[in-house]
Amino acid sequence: MSMMLTGRDVKDLARKALRARALAHAPYSRYRVGAAVRTAGRRPKIFTGCNVENRSYGATICAERVALCKAVSEGKKKFAAIAIATGGKEPAPPCGVCLQFMTEFGSDLIVILVAAKSKKMEITSLRELLPVQFAW
Ligand code: THU
Repeated sequence: MSMMLTGRDVKDLARKALRARALAHAPYSRYRVGAAVRTAGRRPKIFTGCNVENRSYGATICAERVALCKAVSEGKKKFAAIAIATGGKEPAPPCGVCLQFMTEFGSDLIVILVAAKSKKMEITSLRELLPVQFAW
């Protein structure tokens, strides 16, 4: 069963992603990303994340994976939606690694993209962004 999200829920998640973006550790790229993932079920919880860069660049972790790992490490593995906030005027989709990471926990995921500058929002889904998914 897919979760019902109200307009208010979407706005709330977008706002939390924007707030998380302010905490990004991005001294190298200066590209800040925030994410907020909402668990599925009757008592939804929201976990936030930001990108955490490292001087050894490849060790950098994206905001989406930080939020998901926080949730999983607290026992939550069912998700209804994730909001992702990036800089710039247009909403930007997550990287392929993060899309792959999301599929681990199911393909029914609403993805809300928010542009920090314009506050423009785009609502899409994991299936739309990654229609063909690796599975074995
Ligand atoms: N980044 C994310 O946090 N999420 C994505 O989906 C793509 C990229 C971060 C990683 C790095 O800190 C910065 O954005 C520039 O690539």
